[in-house]
Amino acid sequence: MTNNQSINIYNSTILIVDDNQTNLKMLSNAISESGWEILVATDGESAIEQAEYAQPDLILLDVMMPGIDGFKTCQLLKKNQLTRDIPVIFLTALSDKFDKVQGLLIGGIDYITKPFQIEEVLARIQVHLKIRFLTKQLAEQNQQLEKRVEERTQELSQTLEELKQSQIQLVQQEKLSTLGQLVAGVAHEINNPLGFITGNLEFISNYIQSLITHLQLYQEIYPNPDDKIVKNARLIELEQIFQDVPKMFSSVNMGLERISEISDSLRTFARADTSHKVSFDIHDGIDSTLLILKHRLKANNQHPEIVVIKNYGSLPFLDCYPGQINQVFMNIIANAIEAFDADNQSKLDLGNTTPEIIITTVFEPGEKLIITTVKDNGTGISPEDSQKIFKQYFTTKPIGKGTGLGLSISRQIIEDKHQGKIYFNSVLGKGTEFIIELPVA
Ligand SMILES: Nc1ncnc2c1ncn2[C@@H]1O[C@H](COP(=O)(O)OP(=O)(O)OP(=O)(O)O)[C@@H](O)[C@H]1O
Ligand SMILES: [Mg+2]
Repeated sequence: MTNNQSINIYNSTILIVDDNQTNLKMLSNAISESGWEILVATDGESAIEQAEYAQPDLILLDVMMPGIDGFKTCQLLKKNQLTRDIPVIFLTALSDKFDKVQGLLIGGIDYITKPFQIEEVLARIQVHLKIRFLTKQLAEQNQQLEKRVEERTQELSQTLEELKQSQIQLVQQEKLSTLGQLVAGVAHEINNPLGFITGNLEFISNYIQSLITHLQLYQEIYPNPDDKIVKNARLIELEQIFQDVPKMFSSVNMGLERISEISDSLRTFARADTSHKVSFDIHDGIDSTLLILKHRLKANNQHPEIVVIKNYGSLPFLDCYPGQINQVFMNIIANAIEAFDADNQSKLDLGNTTPEIIITTVFEPGEKLIITTVKDNGTGISPEDSQKIFKQYFTTKPIGKGTGLGLSISRQIIEDKHQGKIYFNSVLGKGTEFIIELPVA
């Protein structure tokens, strides 16, 4: 905190304003002997001029002067931005009709009566200089404090913003990793029984084939078996079994292959996020995402069946974070599906058109870009909403349905993590297409 020792009032400058030369001289001598700098003026106008220019620390101002008097001078000093903070002490003869109250009201801080008692003058000057310095110091400290508060507030709001960002990322990562773990868990659980079913099926198939061959051998060697055997063969439709069994095995095999494809797809989707980029087939990403979303394409109380059309070009592998890229496909395709939801039907007139999502991929060899387009003929986006859809928490979906984070996260992933671009074209009531451009390093 401030203490008096740190206040150096002896470097101060004092402006004395008096039309009486004797007074002027006496005051000047006494004051400069005390070590203060002196400036003098003999009338109001030149006093104001000097005060503006030299910025004294204190003004001793005679009240009775020719021209503008001390009061008027003081008023002008207090109106002037350059001089209004300089303290003014009035000098007045006892015989003058000096209105102390008025003097203080117009901004004087004190008054000294003539004839002067020089010790009193010096003592008052000292007191007011001290007050002046303390006030100045306080103002400076206040300013510094305000500046620091402002800086701190700015730092805090930046930290808050960063915190929000990382919270959003955490929530998304958490969601994704929970989904990933779940999917990976399901894939694993399917894979185990799948393994022993597939393994045993081959043996069963061989055994049954052997049994059939064996039976056929019986028929050949004993063409006229007992009646009981003939009856039973008819009952169980033995000839039909001979024909059907191989077909059944091949269809069971197809089913198993399908399950194993699904399980592979699930594992592709769940591919844990690596800390470094890995080579990835974008089509695998889209396909596995579609698989996860497949049940949402079927007709339900929100929309009729949605048809997905794939126009895949031939693409090079992409060095990327596959988990994150899948997350983007998930967000964009989920949005396209939701663009057919009944909650949005007020904006959408499907008429006779079938709900459709067309996914196109191409490779631009010139710019080395993989371009993926997801186009729907759903609600479309109004020009007003178009400005906002990438903003965090912006959603037009009912509470509980949309968090408004999908697109802002997708933009972060595509633009910040993969140096790509994501943008869209949309016509309200007609549909929307999202375009994702990813550079192949
Ligand atoms: N294909 C689309 N058709 C129509 N509107 C869309 C489409 N994609 C995005 N939007 C609009 O952009 C908004 C923001 O999308 P975003 O994915 O960021 O959040 P959300 O889908 O509302 O919620 P969530 O966080 O669950 O994804 C949506 O609420 C919707 O209004
Ligand atoms: Mg969304």
